Amino acid sequence: MSHTAVERGDLLGLDGLPADQLLSLLDQAEQFLPVAFREKPPLDLLAGGLVANLFFEDSTRTRCSFTVAALRLGADTVDLTGSGSSLSKGETLLDTALNVEAMGVDALVVRSPASGSPAMIARAVNIPVINAGDGRHEHPTQALLDIFTLRRRWEGEISGKTVAIVGDIGHSRVARSNAFGLTTLGADVVLVGPPALVPESLEAIGLGPGRVAVSHDLDSVLGDVDAVMMLRIQLERQANGGAIPPDDYRSCYGLTVDRARRLRPEVPVMHPGPMNRGVEIDSEVADDKARSVILRQVTQGVALRMAVLDRAIGHRPWALDDE
Ligand code: NCD
Repeated sequence: MSHTAVERGDLLGLDGLPADQLLSLLDQAEQFLPVAFREKPPLDLLAGGLVANLFFEDSTRTRCSFTVAALRLGADTVDLTGSGSSLSKGETLLDTALNVEAMGVDALVVRSPASGSPAMIARAVNIPVINAGDGRHEHPTQALLDIFTLRRRWEGEISGKTVAIVGDIGHSRVARSNAFGLTTLGADVVLVGPPALVPESLEAIGLGPGRVAVSHDLDSVLGDVDAVMMLRIQLERQANGGAIPPDDYRSCYGLTVDRARRLRPEVPVMHPGPMNRGVEIDSEVADDKARSVILRQVTQGVALRMAVLDRAIGHRPWALDDE
């Protein structure tokens, strides 16, 4: 069975997650949206539940968003950050996870620079594990919130659309998870960036029915896409420290004001953050309220993570006793 199979509400990746399960998470997120937008009060669906955030890599949005999502459902959270150990990463993470599980938490939300560590932890513990980003591998909740944002923008339609993901694709877990999720739901994905960061071999990651194409020419794709997702250059994941100077990068692959004008008016601009303004995206584009959905992604991400947590721990032992 693949690690991404749904057991006890784990969410380890979108590679192999069937379309019906993707859609049911998006539908559930839709229900939680008024709470995320603070049009309705917080819920108590997970009252008494405890979510542990184990973050062994920096995070602003994701950790905070999981905490807000848990609180909006009435659950409590406990946070652990940083490793600071001389043991191998795998052993440290696993021991940490086993100890936190032994304290009686209901789910583990794990971020780690080591690809595959949430899956490794999931095999060892008896509570749901949610991957909050592992190395270059996957970042399923980011991709789900991106797809959720797109589905809302497109009034329900995903199949047949084309999404350009632009930047350091080879090092990006966000791009990989989006490629898996979007193609599963029938959208096509164009991965755009310099040849060193976007190898042709990435065309093989499409799961179908949607397809993945690679392009090294941003200007040639802009007129044909239904959404553009900009990514930062992930210097911390590059052995050569990033060979392309920021000004050169911007002139070839940055979403400048001029380039944004070539997008059809209704095409949304996305970014998972953190943004490097003036490198992969100009400030005027990022702040353009008509086009940029970057902060909507963040708010809608809370609703999406509420859906993921509800799926993971909505059926805790004492909750089942009541049925
Ligand atoms: C991304 C991540 O950490 O993978 N950010 C995020 O979670 N919103 C993207 C990045 O680091 O560039």
